[in-house]
Amino acid sequence: MKFFVDTADPDEIREAATWGVLAGVTTNPSLYARIGGKLADFPSHIQQICSIVDGPVSVEAVGNTRDELVAEGLRLAALAENVVIKLPIGTEGLAACRILTDQGIAVNMTLVFSVPQAVLAARAGASYISPFVGRFDDIGEDGISQLADIIDALSNYDWRGFGINDQEPQVIAASIRSVHHVTQAALLGADIATIPFAVLKKCLDHPLTEQGLAAFAKDWEKVIA
Ligand code: G3P
Repeated sequence: MKFFVDTADPDEIREAATWGVLAGVTTNPSLYARIGGKLADFPSHIQQICSIVDGPVSVEAVGNTRDELVAEGLRLAALAENVVIKLPIGTEGLAACRILTDQGIAVNMTLVFSVPQAVLAARAGASYISPFVGRFDDIGEDGISQLADIIDALSNYDWRGFGINDQEPQVIAASIRSVHHVTQAALLGADIATIPFAVLKKCLDHPLTEQGLAAFAKDWEKVIA
């Protein structure tokens, strides 16, 4: 499973990149608003993020029609080579996905909450498909079993020929809120998990690791010089 960080904060991305495991970044309008981002700074902000990470950076196109989504997608894709356009699933997102994909622009289909949505996204050529785990849990459903169903359904087919360069779509486990979600995503074989920085850090924590480290340090002091 590849690890993406789900944030628009360059400091978090820079720190995660130093760990040597960061394969990409996902952002969305809420994450940019959360760091106090300004509209005028958005293009340079995305370029800054794209220069930090050696991998795809998902940036959401905002618009109401396929034409608006495509125009915005083209603008965003021109910012850096590693920009991936995030589009919301729906008639307009689907149509825009096909148009952008046919132009060689990678799309991450977002806000996916069902198997039909995921299969339609694959059919429209999406390079990445993002089932939202936590938000499905939020409404009393089971986000992890939804993710499992989507991975299963997509694995029934050969998707080469629909997307860019004969590549199959990759499933991004998104809206990850806990280490448990990360564990389950890996057990299910999700291609990617996009994880908030705080949760990514927690993935490294374990009380027995802490205890073991303290014990080794203490015993090392007993070693005769
Ligand atoms: O990648 C999608 C993610 O940013 C949504 O997370 O916690 O707002 O549901 P959340």
